[in-house]
Amino acid sequence: MNSVVVLPLVSKEYRLLANRLGILANEQSDALSDFILSESNSLIALSPVDKNRGGSIHCDFLAPGFQRYLSSVTRKSLIAKACGLKGEGAPSILDISAGLGKDALSLASLGAQVSMVEANPYVYLLLYSGIHTLKQSSLALSSNISLLACQDAKTVLSQSDRAYEVIYFDPMFPERKKSAKVKKEMQYFHQVVGEDHNQPDEIFTEAVKQARKRLVIKRPKGSDFYADQKPNYSLESKVIRYDIYLNFVE
Ligand SMILES: C[S@@+](CC[C@H](N)C(=O)[O-])C[C@H]1O[C@@H](n2cnc3c(N)ncnc32)[C@H](O)[C@@H]1O
Repeated sequence: MNSVVVLPLVSKEYRLLANRLGILANEQSDALSDFILSESNSLIALSPVDKNRGGSIHCDFLAPGFQRYLSSVTRKSLIAKACGLKGEGAPSILDISAGLGKDALSLASLGAQVSMVEANPYVYLLLYSGIHTLKQSSLALSSNISLLACQDAKTVLSQSDRAYEVIYFDPMFPERKKSAKVKKEMQYFHQVVGEDHNQPDEIFTEAVKQARKRLVIKRPKGSDFYADQKPNYSLESKVIRYDIYLNFVE
């Protein structure tokens, strides 16, 4: 993982959380630092030291652009179909790879009750500040979403006792260095998080066992099935594929 300089955080809540996550303010950057983690307007942001590498990443769920994106997501969207959001149904969903929360918020905006898990402490801080800011707003969506403690999905799955109807998993895709389609920000997000560190067999077995109705795995189109497990069916767009594993054991 590349080195991150953490600037002192303004909010006490974020400072305490950063301490708990083992992210300490280390203003004394060295010349080899790649990224800066800082707070601005109550949001935590990650920016590359070299500005040519792109702008900052943050989770501003109240931004007009993000709200416009959410209003374009409907129950006919692929992610909604993949997660079985039909008619008026509002399943409980555990997103075990929350990242920057875009998929989880999309599902929550359609009425699903979504709980998020994120293990990377830097990504977790970004997401935490976004959710914290969202929860202070009056948007109805905020009551449909919750962020669990920063931990590995395996821990949550081992304690979930089949509490969720849907488990949603979006592991890191292999980096597409040469693709112009991958935004600069996504390229360095990749560097901060790294490749998928999960043991595919292990996480698949636990996730499929814990999903009361279905496990949904997001994959790049044309890629192998995760853990070599053939899904019941898949839904595809131009670039991505959702593999759906149905679980009929009630
Ligand atoms: C491709 S990103 C997910 C993007 C997300 N779906 C979104 O809409 O922003 C994958 C994320 O899952 C997290 N992750 C991967 N494996 C995990 C695990 N076993 N437990 C918790 N988080 C995990 C990574 O740290 C990374 O932030």
